[in-house]
Amino acid sequence: MEEIVELVNKELSSIIPQGWTVPSGLQEAMSYSLMAGGKRLRPLLVMAAAESLQGSREAALPVAGAVEMIHTYSLIHDDLPAMDNDDFRRGKPTNHKMFGEASAILAGDGLLTHAFYYVVQAARRYHVPAEAVLSIVEDLAKYAGPSGMVGGQVADMQGEQGITSLDQLRYIHEHKTGDLIVFCLKAGGRIAAASPEQLEALEYFGRCLGHAFQIQDDILDLVGDASKLGKSTHSDVKMQKVTYPYFIGIEASQAEVNRLTIEAKQAVSGGLIPEPGRLLEIADYLMHRDH
Ligand code: IPE
Ligand code: IPE
Ligand code: MG
Ligand code: MG
Ligand code: MG
Repeated sequence: MEEIVELVNKELSSIIPQGWTVPSGLQEAMSYSLMAGGKRLRPLLVMAAAESLQGSREAALPVAGAVEMIHTYSLIHDDLPAMDNDDFRRGKPTNHKMFGEASAILAGDGLLTHAFYYVVQAARRYHVPAEAVLSIVEDLAKYAGPSGMVGGQVADMQGEQGITSLDQLRYIHEHKTGDLIVFCLKAGGRIAAASPEQLEALEYFGRCLGHAFQIQDDILDLVGDASKLGKSTHSDVKMQKVTYPYFIGIEASQAEVNRLTIEAKQAVSGGLIPEPGRLLEIADYLMHRDH
């Protein structure tokens, strides 16, 4: 995993090249958050999904970079005063704290737009079939857009005014976090020419894992260590978010993370996916994560 993260970081540093003809303040603000670290979970999942079907690691790099740009933009906007109003991210002051709100909004916009340019490079540079890239672009717009992550973020904001059921909370988690993770698994699969059945198995793995991931994020907001997390804890309490621990308590939330992780692993362990090893390792790593 470390080896892949290093490869991804190298790719990311070339995504916003020195000497690019864009306003230097914009480039600086985009790089600041993109290169601030982070687990690089989503790129890892794209590459692990491709490799689980014996696809090429290199061919997965453009999509891996693109999804990290989308994720980073979502974090910059998520931290804005009008949203979660947070001051720390990835161990540093948040983008708007460094560059001001207008620049932070535009840095997010820049990362979001540039991601689509980058996905296409899978075909241009690595000869991923255009038909596969078309589906990846379509999926990215769907899973990151209004019916996906953006819709989930809207529901999360509305949730601050009080939500009443666990089903509503599941909707928020599924879309604000789960959808982009599902995208990663399916995109990796598409790069490796997955069959419809394989895509379905990868999607189900991503669905369970994404849900577990956000429950864990909610748990860590309460009991995690801010210096390890690189972001302030108790943000959800401050913003009066309704979370899993709020509804069912920490122990039951942890049990749900474990249950979902087992369900995720089963989805790719039945023989349909020839080499699920790394996907299984990532699932286990996430279950025990402290940041
Ligand atoms: C944080 O994501 C936001 C959520 C969707 C929960 P990560 O925990 O993956 O953040 P980084 O990328 O490691 O900073
Ligand atoms: C963020 O969820 C989800 C997205 C950025 C799309 P959170 O608001 O819980 O993420 P953190 O805790 O700030 O990282
Ligand atoms: Mg939020
Ligand atoms: Mg937040
Ligand atoms: Mg959180």
